[in-house]
Amino acid sequence: MRRSTPFDPIETASRDELAALQLERMKWSVKHAYDNVAHYKNKCDAIGVRPEDLQELSDLAKFPTTSKEDLRLNYPYGMFAVPMEKIVRIHASSGTTGKPTVVGYTREDIVTWSNVMARSIRGAGGSTHDIALVSYGYGLFTGGLGAHYGAERLGCTVIPMSGGQTEKQVQIILDFKPTIILCTPSYMLHLADEFRRQNIDPKSCTLKLGMFGAEPWTHAMRLEIEETFGIDAIDVYGLSEVMGPGVACECIDTKDGPHIWEDHFYPEIVNPATGQPVADGESGELVFTSLTKVGMPVIRYRTRDLTRLLPGTARTMRRMDKIVGRSDDMLIIRGVNVFPTQIEELILKDARLAPHYELVVSRDGHMDTLAVRTEARPETSDEATRQAAAKQLQHDIKSLIGVSTAVDVLPPEAIKRSEGKAKRVIDNRR
Ligand code: DLL
Repeated sequence: MRRSTPFDPIETASRDELAALQLERMKWSVKHAYDNVAHYKNKCDAIGVRPEDLQELSDLAKFPTTSKEDLRLNYPYGMFAVPMEKIVRIHASSGTTGKPTVVGYTREDIVTWSNVMARSIRGAGGSTHDIALVSYGYGLFTGGLGAHYGAERLGCTVIPMSGGQTEKQVQIILDFKPTIILCTPSYMLHLADEFRRQNIDPKSCTLKLGMFGAEPWTHAMRLEIEETFGIDAIDVYGLSEVMGPGVACECIDTKDGPHIWEDHFYPEIVNPATGQPVADGESGELVFTSLTKVGMPVIRYRTRDLTRLLPGTARTMRRMDKIVGRSDDMLIIRGVNVFPTQIEELILKDARLAPHYELVVSRDGHMDTLAVRTEARPETSDEATRQAAAKQLQHDIKSLIGVSTAVDVLPPEAIKRSEGKAKRVIDNRR
């Protein structure tokens, strides 16, 4: 087994030591939000709860949760807890509808973020000897700059490539010889296609480690990427409202789900319908309270990401299970709940199919219908094989997920490739 050494001693401190630090920081963070952000004060006052009511970690459940809608209502800067002169960076995440959510960072916040991302890369097996190709997009999206600052903080040599320009990415990989790549898992598959298009075996490049996140991906997808490039594929998680990439990351030692950097981001799982906390190990919606953020603290922020909390392994900090999907990505097709990741798993099981897909939801009268479009691998792309694979997938989806679908297995390259977050669902109902 490979071992990664912690970047910060707290990563392997005892649970008691960690809890004491969390409580001290949580008291500060809740008071900081209450004293400096009108939204938090109003929400707490409305239900009669005050920062002093937080005496132990479990008291957090008494406080109101925060939603993406709350952030939108306070667009753009209403959730900031410090004057603008203290804010040194803005990021924003574009939602599917309406205005983006805006986040702001102080100088201290950028240091914290760089440290947790450096910690993530170290845990993933990276070191000062690595050359890191950052292929997450640079800009309002937190992926590029977040990964960049973390890799630099750790002491890697950073190549600030950003997303897109796929042909050039391959050239840069061949010439600059990076050992780590950071991008979305769907973009990594796009890069694999480009290597093959240029008649180069992806395995022959210098990459040995990839840190993938920003979108849900399955264990089957991990194996596909690892096999294609001959690298270790590590899951890195984060969201802009809480910080950006590096809220949680897998360790190379165990590769068993991202360890949440709990000394900065306190996790809870709640029942998505009632908002009530559930016990560790039970599935539900992930909620975060920032413990050290100065510019824009978040108290009980509802991520809409569905997962569960698991005990620590390579670190004492708790892990999160692979994200099944976001509650807003869940399709309800004639009463059956379907997540794109469930279909991804079935596609990847079939060696005739390539790991590219999209789901098209339409309405036929009062009935919602689901069509799955995926692709054959080049070596199995004749008409008869494609039809047989389509029939099999349709059968597997019906028997394992319980929903009838129309399945189309298209020739290679037919599905649109993504340069950042993959768009898996095309909803024609609206
Ligand atoms: O995606 C930050 C990030 C960049 C994370 C690069 C990892 C790597 P947002 O654009 O605000 O921030 O989107 C956050 O993306 O709530 C999840 O739904 C999803 N997500 C992020 N990481 C993962 C992951 C960035 N490892 C939203 N697995 C989150 C599954 C992920 N979903």
